[in-house]
Amino acid sequence: MKNKLLTKKVELANLPTPIQKMEAVSKRLGKNIFLKRDDFTGMEVSGNKIRKLEYALFDAIKQGCDTVITTGAIQSNHCRATAFACARLGLSCILVLRSADGPAIEDFEGNTFFDLVSGAKVYLIEEDVDALDFMASLKDSLAQEGKKAYLIPVGASNAVGSLGYRECFREILDQEKAMDLKFDAIVLAVGSGGTYAGLYFENQIQKAGKDIWGFSVSKKEEEFVQVIQDILANMADPNNPEDIDNGMIIINDRYIGEGYAKTTREEIFFLLDLAAESAVIFDPCYTGKAFRGLCSEIGKGSFDKYENILFIHTGGLFGWTKDHRKLAMASLKQQLV
Ligand SMILES: Cc1ncc(COP(=O)(O)O)c(C=O)c1O
Repeated sequence: MKNKLLTKKVELANLPTPIQKMEAVSKRLGKNIFLKRDDFTGMEVSGNKIRKLEYALFDAIKQGCDTVITTGAIQSNHCRATAFACARLGLSCILVLRSADGPAIEDFEGNTFFDLVSGAKVYLIEEDVDALDFMASLKDSLAQEGKKAYLIPVGASNAVGSLGYRECFREILDQEKAMDLKFDAIVLAVGSGGTYAGLYFENQIQKAGKDIWGFSVSKKEEEFVQVIQDILANMADPNNPEDIDNGMIIINDRYIGEGYAKTTREEIFFLLDLAAESAVIFDPCYTGKAFRGLCSEIGKGSFDKYENILFIHTGGLFGWTKDHRKLAMASLKQQLV
């Protein structure tokens, strides 16, 4: 499939990211579990968002914009990655962060702290404020000062951003050839849907026949299926519409736990055991919940038909906040001698 956009991006990520087998976990669960290390895409600009931003920021520069405005939750990995990507490219960045009652300035930590370190300007908005309207009005005021702003939606989960995960899918196909194996299923966390949509779209275009499992960290299954279908519809080239079958979308919403960005002691302890077993750290908000879902579903037999499973480590380690560390210390303190 030709898609000219696939070659048009700015280069920000360390690509290709490696694929590593999780030996101990594979042995324990009786499946070959591999990790696609998209947490290695960078440091300041780490995680899955940077693949999307390579395309979104190319688009911003092409349109002659000097400022980028985006939005997310208070600990948004996407916002932190956008802020540093903009700093690298010499673009101004404004972040609109959603927060029930904004943290006191001395409590800014993790992603929120680094948002400020990047030089970005940060607005905190209440839960009931419409972020898109807020961003649009910022764009209008900047226009009056002669500036041109480019708006990126939550998670850069639109047709342009998802191109980054179409590219990632192709990278996986190349790596399969080099490794002389085939991944039967790809598994990932779903927060705003763009990563899933990009992988799903390219899986169909390439007729690769993989099952793509998304573990929701927030919305119900049917809501995410709709979100992903909408992104897929926008990704299709209207002059040359691809034949995308929406019927293969797999979203599992059973491991959200207490809600988006809420973490239980059991979830944290799961991550600690896994880190000691496999030397891999997942984040409590996204990858941790999804990987827990994968392990539990393997136990229930839902993955029986697959031999090789590829889990995308989408990053998020800046999201280990002091509340998570506090829960973790309830167990880790026993190791102090
Ligand atoms: C670390 C991490 N993993 C996974 C996701 C989910 O990706 P997406 O928003 O494309 O569904 C996000 C963001 O939402 C994230 O920050």
